[in-house]
Amino acid sequence: MDLSVRFWEPGKEFLRIEEEAMDTMRTVLRAGDLIMRQQMLDFEQHLAEFVGTSDAVGVSNCTDGLRLLLEAVGIGPGDEVITVSHTFMATMAVIHHVGATPVLVDVTDDYNMDVDLIERAITKKTKAIMPVYLNGRLVRMDRLMEIAEAHNLMVLEDTAQALGGSYMGVRGGAWGVAGAFSFYPAKLLGAYGDAGAVVTSARPDSRVGAGTAASTTCRRRSSTSS
Ligand SMILES: Cc1ncc(COP(=O)(O)O)c(C=O)c1O
Repeated sequence: MDLSVRFWEPGKEFLRIEEEAMDTMRTVLRAGDLIMRQQMLDFEQHLAEFVGTSDAVGVSNCTDGLRLLLEAVGIGPGDEVITVSHTFMATMAVIHHVGATPVLVDVTDDYNMDVDLIERAITKKTKAIMPVYLNGRLVRMDRLMEIAEAHNLMVLEDTAQALGGSYMGVRGGAWGVAGAFSFYPAKLLGAYGDAGAVVTSARPDSRVGAGTAASTTCRRRSSTSS
């Protein structure tokens, strides 16, 4: 007897929504409306409303979203970003990718960042804190924000796994200057392929606001260039 249980069965899940999904695909494909289409703009607006931010911008995946955010706030060589030792490798990879150094703090009983260890990891080079919300569970964000404010640090949230997760009534993605979600197929809201979004309430004239706006502008251009 085969007792193996598959971790995840996207094919079976699809059967539950097949009709609705295929109707939507047909509508979009028949209209030839493939880039920056209304359905996606609506989704971005709904996502921002759900999370509690003023804006959401769809990106190719959470990894790219986090990198975009780091670049948008000007983090690069010589800077340090405090994050947690137990996370998916993308969290550290993006910090490394922009030329900055990830500084890791340990986890506490829930396997998420031990917020009480953050202060001793801060140096003159620290520019940001990147909390990660594993399994949808936020860290003690009130304390983390207090530390960030006291040391003038930005908070960029890796909220890849936490769509809908909240702490003290505030959703993941709405605490810091910005956050990034993953819609990798096995995530809470899985796409049929890689996908993600960044969320922010940053003013459009701030660095992160301009950065996310730049991403939108790029896509608008690419949709009209062919
Ligand atoms: C905590 C965390 N950060 C970042 C990512 C990267 O997300 P994506 O696969 O959408 O790039 C993941 C994906 O598993 C994740 O779990």
